[in-house]
This record gives sequence, C-alpha cells and structure tokens, in this order.
Amino acid sequence: MVNVLFVCLGNICRSPSAEAVMNSLIVKNNLVGKIKCDSAGTIGYHAGEPADSRMRQHASQRGINLTSISRKFVVEDFERFDYIIAMDKKNYEDILIQDTGNKYSSKVTMMTEYSSDKSVDHVPDPYYGGPQGFENVLDILEDSCSGLIKAIGENGFKDEDES
Ligand code: 4NP
Repeated sequence: MVNVLFVCLGNICRSPSAEAVMNSLIVKNNLVGKIKCDSAGTIGYHAGEPADSRMRQHASQRGINLTSISRKFVVEDFERFDYIIAMDKKNYEDILIQDTGNKYSSKVTMMTEYSSDKSVDHVPDPYYGGPQGFENVLDILEDSCSGLIKAIGENGFKDEDES
C-alpha cells in the first residue's frame, strides 16, 4: 500500500479536493487497495469541519464528492505517509519546518510537480476569490493527480501486507 497525504492551509478547499480527485482516479485505474489517500491543513482553524460548500459544489459538477473532515497536519504524518504533497510553496515550507530532524524532506513534494502543464507551479488558494478560482483548482488537480498516479506506478507499489 502506498499512503498519500495532500496538504493545504485550511484543509477545506484544495487538499480535500485533491484527495477526492485522487480517490476517483484510484477507482478508475483499478488501484483500490494499492494507493490510499488522506488530507490535512497546516492550520487547525477549520478542524472538524466539512469542505467549503463552494468547493463541494464545483467538485460535484464534475462528479467528484468531497467527504473529508478537516484536520491539522501532525508530525506523526511524516512516518505514516509515503508521499506528502503540498498545494503551494508556503504549505511546503510550513510542512518542512516541522521536520526538525531533517529526515523526511524527500517525501515532501509540490502537487504541481506532477502536472503536465509546466507553466503551473502551485495550486492557488481559492478561498477569497470567485467561482473561477475553484474551477482552476479542479483543473490543476485533475491533471496533477493523473501525473501522480503515473509517478507512483513508476516508483512501484509496496507489498500488500506493508502498511
Ligand atoms: P485551503 O483554503 O487551504 O485550500 O483549504 C483556505 C481555507 C481557509 C482559509 C484559507 C484558505 N482561511 O483563511 O481560513
């Protein structure tokens, strides 16, 4: 099993969407039981809340159902996950600053590293913007998550009985 954690700021817009987009690709690509996803935020401000209703609405128009409940990133996540994927550079830095022993930096990447569109270098925060921001998030995530599925396949799946 390969464990993937998507991380943004509040864990109510971008990372729960990444988790749901990835879960739909896992089903489409017959990878259930091989890749498992979760998401978290670098702040705990929205912990316990469902995803933002605007984000849920835009996702549902594409057949993507956001079900996750917000939680804060914790240092134990460094051990639990094989891939820790940040939505923007600030998220990336806020994760790495918690890796005080500098042991886990190779697990931490940017979502857009897996994008086929090399002009995109982060997933922009849609929270204070209009509808186009939410559509843009989903466009970037659909493309980047397909690239992520390929990258995980190329790096190889661990044995089924490994956690
Ligand atoms: P997210 O969006 O990081 O994609 O979940 C945001 C959610 C909440 C806030 C900012 C961004 N906030 O400031 O509360």
